[in-house]
Amino acid sequence: MASWLRLSLLVFALLHAVLLLPNLVHCGDEEDSLLQGINSYRQSLNLPDLVKNDKAGCLANEVADQLEDQPCISTPGPMAIAPGSRTQISNYHDLLDKCSIDEKTTADGVILPVCVPKLVPTLVLTNYTHSQYSKYLNNSKYTGAGIGKEDDWMVVVLTTNTPTGTFAGAAALSSRIWANQCLVVLLVGVFLSLLN
Ligand SMILES: *[C@@H]1O[C@H](CO)[C@@H](O)[C@H](O)[C@H]1NC(C)=O
Ligand SMILES: *[C@@H]1O[C@H](CO)[C@@H](O)[C@H](O)[C@H]1NC(C)=O
Repeated sequence: MASWLRLSLLVFALLHAVLLLPNLVHCGDEEDSLLQGINSYRQSLNLPDLVKNDKAGCLANEVADQLEDQPCISTPGPMAIAPGSRTQISNYHDLLDKCSIDEKTTADGVILPVCVPKLVPTLVLTNYTHSQYSKYLNNSKYTGAGIGKEDDWMVVVLTTNTPTGTFAGAAALSSRIWANQCLVVLLVGVFLSLLN
């Protein structure tokens, strides 16, 4: 291949890599390995795997954002979603709007936050499986999960198969953007490996 072409491809790839670097952490990662850990725990209890739910994941990220400045308590307890008991998340409606989730589809879900300094993966997992949260993970009613994190906070949102727990609505823009950026990074990687 002509060397000028090779050079311009390399510059193109490097530019993308630099621009996208801060977002690379969003492509597969701590959240996915936590879901795998939770699913191994479910398998040991003879329960089906939880399926990744992107909208619930978007909500989990928004809730984690809000918890960031709160005192770090390892398992603060589940956050109620059902109308009337929703005292812990003041702007719940705004968060649902941001993630394009129809509120009617969330009543059966549950939000489980944990705080672990530096989010040490083994500690995060045991904070879910060896705490009051284990009874939620050991419940066949829950079929899906969305996971988000911010700073020392990890948030798992469990979803159900019932109409009041699927976390459905219009497609969430933010998760689509991340998916596209991950795709670009992948393509650049493929490009670079072809060059060699
Ligand atoms: C949960 O995380 C805290 C750190 O925040 C750790 O000290 C504790 O041992 C963990 N608990 C379990 C049951 O893993
Ligand atoms: C899980 O739930 C089942 C049925 O509710 C119960 O018999 C079992 O002891 C639970 N196991 C754990 C590890 O919580």
